[in-house]
Amino acid sequence: MKRKVLVVGGGGREHALVEALHRSPSSPEIFAAPGNAGTAARAKNLPIAADAVLELVSAAIERRLDLVVVGPEVPLVLGLVDRLGERGIPALGPRAAAARLEGSKSFSKKIMAEARVPTARFLSTSDQDEAIEFARSLSGRVAVKADGLAAGKGVIVAGDEAEAISAIRQLAGDAAARDGLVVEERLEGEELSVLALTDGTHIATFSGAQDHKRVRDHDEGPNTGGMGAYSPAPKGTRALLDEIERTALRPVLDRLAELGAPFSGVLYAGIMLTADGPKVLEYNVRFGDPEAEVLLPRLRGDVFELLLSAATGQLRPGPVDEIDQAALTVVMAAAGYPARPRRGDVIHGLKEAEAIPGVHVYHAGTEQVGGEVRTAGGRVLAVTGMGADLAAAKEAAYRGVAAIHFEGQHFRTDIGARALGR
Ligand code: AMP
Ligand code: GLY
Repeated sequence: MKRKVLVVGGGGREHALVEALHRSPSSPEIFAAPGNAGTAARAKNLPIAADAVLELVSAAIERRLDLVVVGPEVPLVLGLVDRLGERGIPALGPRAAAARLEGSKSFSKKIMAEARVPTARFLSTSDQDEAIEFARSLSGRVAVKADGLAAGKGVIVAGDEAEAISAIRQLAGDAAARDGLVVEERLEGEELSVLALTDGTHIATFSGAQDHKRVRDHDEGPNTGGMGAYSPAPKGTRALLDEIERTALRPVLDRLAELGAPFSGVLYAGIMLTADGPKVLEYNVRFGDPEAEVLLPRLRGDVFELLLSAATGQLRPGPVDEIDQAALTVVMAAAGYPARPRRGDVIHGLKEAEAIPGVHVYHAGTEQVGGEVRTAGGRVLAVTGMGADLAAAKEAAYRGVAAIHFEGQHFRTDIGARALGR
């Protein structure tokens, strides 16, 4: 009998998961909740929101699913994996107690300190004066973070005292700061995303990836969820990835297990490559978006079996099996993104772009309206190019982008420039 898998979420990451599951030799039947116009081609979209935990569990029971793969962080923090576990349904992702590693910045810093993970010096506090005093002691060169989930908008990096004080005042008023603020030393360097699958005991790392968070070229403009990525990142040598596994992944898994909150799923360390070595900026407890759009198409073998093995304690440790090609993805965003994205613009050229060799078009904020695909979110598409090296991958990705058009579209033209300029 065909096995059944549900992908929870509806962004580019989830479309990339659906595609990777679709090409698995075990050819499972695939569902997505809620999915998007892209996942609909390979999966049955269920009209259930990604954070509607009880409805997701009901659907999983009703359809006798063999695996649930959770894309975004919110359902993890809300305990989706706990509820599925009670019903005996395997899920890729941590339970709520371990998802706090992303859900609470102060918890995350506490675990890092206890596990002796290299990270920025910090203070967790709910007292603004104390926060300001600590920021002053670092001459205002700090990152200020609201404790709770803020969809990437809860961090302000300050360069002097005035900026630090205004950041503390601003974030202290946000809902995500209900449980306080983290103020930490500002780290300098290049960022690297290191993701690994883990069943709690075994770790299988992916190649390193680099994200591009600012909305405009040359890293200008406001932060976004991510405007593009590539992998492998030349800075992420095997030796460095091994060091990060040893210093930043393994100790955190061990510490969480000691606390009775064992972690399984995808552990993602956001690393700053500082002059003093790699340091952890944050953990995410899921695939990154758009990192997934460059990591998943590089996986070799049966992705369904791989994800199931991580969800059931059977993961084979060591680097995941990846093809020898590079991948680079360019996010095409809607008019007004990130502040106020416009919806409803008709997207042209999708078929033409998909027909280009080495190009995958992953849908993010899209919806099918009659015969048309329209924009329905801030990040609309992630266009991934594959090639023998990063330069070839970049060329393929931008050929894909050039074939597509919608009113108000914008994208960065410099994805990968840093790696290629070296
Ligand atoms: P986070 O959500 O903690 O990863 O923060 C989002 C982004 O803010 C990171 O990807 C960095 O670009 C930046 N950031 C966070 N913490 C620091 C820090 N201590 N020093 C410099 N930049 C930081
Ligand atoms: N691309 C960064 C993230 O998914 O959090």
